[in-house]
Amino acid sequence: MKELIEKIEKYLDEYLPVSYPEEIFESMRYSVLAGGKRLRPIMCLEACKIFGGDVEKAMPTACAFEMLHTQSLIHDDLPCMDNDTYRRGKLTNHKKFSESTAVLTGDALISYGTQLIIEKSELPAETIIKVLKEHAIVAGAYGIIAGQVVDIAMEGKPYDEKILEYIHTHKTADLFKAVLKAGAIIANANEEQLKSMDDFGQKLGFAFQICDDILDEISTFAEMGKTLGKDKKSGKLTYTALFGIEKANCKVNCLLDEACDILEKQKINSKIFDSIINSIREKVK
Ligand code: IPE
Ligand code: IPE
Ligand code: MG
Ligand code: MG
Ligand code: MG
Repeated sequence: MKELIEKIEKYLDEYLPVSYPEEIFESMRYSVLAGGKRLRPIMCLEACKIFGGDVEKAMPTACAFEMLHTQSLIHDDLPCMDNDTYRRGKLTNHKKFSESTAVLTGDALISYGTQLIIEKSELPAETIIKVLKEHAIVAGAYGIIAGQVVDIAMEGKPYDEKILEYIHTHKTADLFKAVLKAGAIIANANEEQLKSMDDFGQKLGFAFQICDDILDEISTFAEMGKTLGKDKKSGKLTYTALFGIEKANCKVNCLLDEACDILEKQKINSKIFDSIINSIREKVK
């Protein structure tokens, strides 16, 4: 895992040279290279590997998805969204630069990701189109944006489990599914294998977001690098708000068990997936 992260960091750095106008490139570098667990590129590369693909060829795609993820964080932190001051242990993009730069940086990261996939992927054109489709869908109103719109709309509103599932699925699990499927597509995985990545990403992503909701209540700034305890104050619809921490813990464990079952059924043996699952389990136990 450590080696993989170092490799991802190296590519992200290489893919983001500074040119004119410097402010936008420096801002993109500031947020993308601020650290982070790099879970999404790791999952993309691992999905490619387990289905027999060339991991090197998945690198532009993996990095493009990390840029898209970073965009979602920059915009999520804006004053008109969650209004946060810290991200990845540093000032949020709009606090470090300006609101206009933060909006434009997010926009730039989405489209630069697609540029990277097109320019740097040494893949057949039809594979690139399939990967771009995953990227386009999750980036837009059928993906993360759908989740974020409802997340904001539900602030302070009566709690509802169906809506909560909708929010968590779209704002978080959709990206998990997209990175896994993109990695599998690069490896020429078959329909059944793609479906298994979709199902696995749904369970893992949902568990991950519930875990984030729990950590918002019980973790620390030092651990998470962002201001916590905010979901309750802003009346966010979270799993803990709906059912309390204990039930939320159970739900995470249950979803992770289901994620493991999906891998087992497909006879997928992956230390990386196991360690991601275990790292979430350890946080909620
Ligand atoms: C934060 O994601 C946003 C959520 C979906 C909860 P991560 O916890 O993966 O953030 P980084 O990439 O490590 O900063
Ligand atoms: C994360 O939801 C969803 C996206 C960034 C798309 P949160 O708003 O809970 O994420 P954090 O807690 O700010 O990282
Ligand atoms: Mg949010
Ligand atoms: Mg937030
Ligand atoms: Mg959160």
